[in-house]
Order: sequence, then structure tokens, then C-alpha cells
Amino acid sequence: MPRFIALIPAAGTGSRMNNELPKQYLSLAGKPMIYHALHTLCLSSHIFRVFVVLAPDDHEWSRYDWSSFADKLTVKYCGGATRADSVLNGLKAMQTDGSIGKDDWILVHDAARPCLTIFQLDQLIDALALDEIGGLLAIPVADTLKRADSNQCVMGTESRNSLWQAQTPQMFRLGLLMDALSKVDSAAITDDASAIEASGLRPRLVQSDAYNFKVTYPQDLALAELVLQKRETK
Ligand code: CTP
Ligand code: MG
Repeated sequence: MPRFIALIPAAGTGSRMNNELPKQYLSLAGKPMIYHALHTLCLSSHIFRVFVVLAPDDHEWSRYDWSSFADKLTVKYCGGATRADSVLNGLKAMQTDGSIGKDDWILVHDAARPCLTIFQLDQLIDALALDEIGGLLAIPVADTLKRADSNQCVMGTESRNSLWQAQTPQMFRLGLLMDALSKVDSAAITDDASAIEASGLRPRLVQSDAYNFKVTYPQDLALAELVLQKRETK
């Protein structure tokens, strides 16, 4: 039986967050942000192991105590210049690690999506465990979409019909994902599914909800704090 392995790329700098500290380490509900996604993934009975990919010059990780995740967690200092490079380097490290096979499922999850729940994770795994290709959590676009000209004036309204916002985890088999990522221009893509699509395949969209948003700008951090606090007091 193929197993389910999580891979968290966490080698970015968080430039849009405008903070000296990479955003995955910013304090969120009393922990560094990456702790929350790690906690959910390590808690899941489906997930066999969790790999974290850090920048080669990361000095923050070692400042915290991660021993509560020790039975599942492996850390690799092999991040690259782009997210896709970090994921591909992580997959290569995973393969040389020996215990992960090319038919095992890899769930790539952004360190910057701290509000992922066990329920969303289960929905993804249940929907895709028997799938030929794999897929991703996503939500249908809710807002009306405007196309702008160079003066920021509206040129027209785009139909939001059939448009989805991609989230993570994105779940593909190790062999397929490695092959797809090694063929694309890594600077031209911002998620894993794009590489699979470039191979001519169609990843499946599994409906999620807006709580699994990505922390990109400072106000997202405040929002994530509210979401996690509310869950703690339930
Ligand atoms: N990431 C990575 N390696 C990179 C760039 C990004 O592992 N070279 C990771 C980030 O750490 C994050 C995830 O990919 O967990 C999603 O990327 P994003 O939200 O864009 O994070 P950053 O690239 O760090 O932020 P920004 O684009 O604002 O600089
Ligand atoms: Mg980025």
C-alpha cells in the first residue's frame, strides 16, 4: 500500500510580509508559524512521515524545541531559489533517504498555511487515495473579477465561472511529481499542480474552505491569529 508523506517547503524569506524574520518563524498564537501546520500533519494518523525543507543558511529552526514531533519529523537544509526548487530538492532528499518509494503519495503543504485542519486533510486524502493522478485543496472564486489596464482602470469583468483558488496540501505520487518538477521552469510556477499540468495531466480539485488561507501579508497574520485563538477556546 502506498503511504502518505508530507513535505513542507519552508525555505522562503516572506518578502511580502516585510519583516526581517522569515514569515514561517513569526509568532502566531504563541508558536512560530510553521509549528501549526506541522502539528496538524504530525497528528494525522494517515501521515507516515513529515519532511521540512529549510534554507541551507537557516539559523532559526534550531532555536526551538521540536521534540514533540520527533517520531515523524525529518528536517533537510536543502531549500532552493524558488518554491519549486525547494520542493524538488526535498523530494530528492526524501528519495535518497531510502524509505520512501516512487508510488508513495507526497502531500506538499506551505509552511505559511497554519490553519489547515485534520478534517481538510482527511477530505483530500479520502478524495484522492485511489486517484490516478492526484490533486489539491482549492476553493471556488467568490469575488467578481476585474481585468485592469495599466492605469488601474477596469477594462472588463471576467467570468468567475469554473475558476478556483489553489491551496495546499497538493498531493501527487513521488515519482510523478519529481519527474514533472524537473521538467518545468521553476521560476514560472507557484504551485506543484502547475508542474503536473505542464506534463499534460489534470489534477483533481478537492473543495476546501477559506480558513486554509495562506499568510502572505501582515494582515493575514492577524487573521490567522484570530482563527487559531477561536479554535483553542472551543
Ligand atoms: N518557499 C520555499 N522556498 C522558496 C520560496 C518559498 O520553500 N525559495 C516556501 C515558503 O517558505 C512557504 C511556501 O513556499 O512556506 C509558499 O511560498 P510563499 O507564500 O510565496 O512564501 P515566500 O516565498 O517566503 O514569501 P514571498 O513570496 O512573499 O517572498
Ligand atoms: Mg514566494
